[in-house]
Amino acid sequence: MDDNSQALVLLIKRQVLQMRQLRHFQWSLPSATSASVSQQSTGPGMNHEHASALSVTTPEMQQAILDQILHDPTLKRYPPSLTYQHSFAKKLISMIEIEGTHEISGELLELFTELLMTAPKRPEQGGPPLKPCFKSYCLDRACSKIVTVMEEQTTISSGTTGLRTWEASFWLAEYLIAHPEILAKKNVVDIGCGVGFLGIACAFLGAKKVVLTDGNTDVLAMARQNIGYNVVPCPTTASLLDWENFTQEQIVALKAEVLILSDLTYDPTNIVPLVNVLKAILVKGVSAYMSSAIRNPQTFVDFFARIEQECVGVEIEEISLKDAEHLFFFDEETVQTVKVFHLSFP
Ligand SMILES: C[S@@+](CC[C@H](N)C(=O)[O-])C[C@H]1O[C@@H](n2cnc3c(N)ncnc32)[C@H](O)[C@@H]1O
Repeated sequence: MDDNSQALVLLIKRQVLQMRQLRHFQWSLPSATSASVSQQSTGPGMNHEHASALSVTTPEMQQAILDQILHDPTLKRYPPSLTYQHSFAKKLISMIEIEGTHEISGELLELFTELLMTAPKRPEQGGPPLKPCFKSYCLDRACSKIVTVMEEQTTISSGTTGLRTWEASFWLAEYLIAHPEILAKKNVVDIGCGVGFLGIACAFLGAKKVVLTDGNTDVLAMARQNIGYNVVPCPTTASLLDWENFTQEQIVALKAEVLILSDLTYDPTNIVPLVNVLKAILVKGVSAYMSSAIRNPQTFVDFFARIEQECVGVEIEEISLKDAEHLFFFDEETVQTVKVFHLSFP
């Protein structure tokens, strides 16, 4: 298989593992020029490049998709939902049929038939409510570093926002991937970790030790389980850290050198407690990296005003994502403006 075909298989694999919605799926490789232009303007995974000449319908590509994606050990062990796998196989088969140039592989048809019998319908087609499922996020184009987490497929579940991975964490992950020196041999603390994608990613990106923290015990339980799904290369644990009820001993025990915070400034009532915890933990020598989706600009302004008031002398620098690798995929309708900041004392 030539390099381009292999790159296309890996692009498809990254999308399947992340369960990218099929209506946004990229079935062809971006052309170099249009990729860089559109990625700069629309963000990771949002490129609308010209289709390259490579087709996913050839017998060779069908076999590679089966061998390297649908029968991949990560996918077998931590599968995306059966409903998603069924929709993926259906879409691929319909593309082969519509193109009409190649036969559908027997193995692909067999897998599709099996999924047809076992995969629940989507809720809008009368199926059961969506359940949590595995999503796997590749931290490089070769899919050699993969973070797997179990997460909800809905935005709010059991009254918390913490049971799914939020887009802001992909942007911060992009930045940390592009700047490995930030995490190298550092004790990293994830504040408001949610299901844990970002903190677990830091373990794969060179951290010495990672502690995931959250104030919600259900979220923390899921984060703990998620650590277990990954063969993390450094000690990685999950501890309770409630911004409204923490002790100085808890803060000292974290031994934080790098803080990561993703999508925590969405709720105006959280500003005071979040800044309180930051004030306690962000001392000279500690660096904080924070990404936020800007849903309500005023909440965001209020957050920084409070930070400047409480953490006197802190330097806040907005970070550019121009050298991001664009490894993660967003659903276009949910994409928001995301900003990333570095906070530290000079
Ligand atoms: C929108 S989610 C973001 C999760 C994760 N950082 C991400 O980007 O995917 C916000 C997280 O903050 C946590 N959180 C909210 N209030 C908190 C508090 N008072 N103390 C600790 N964690 C809190 C929630 O439990 C939830 O996991």
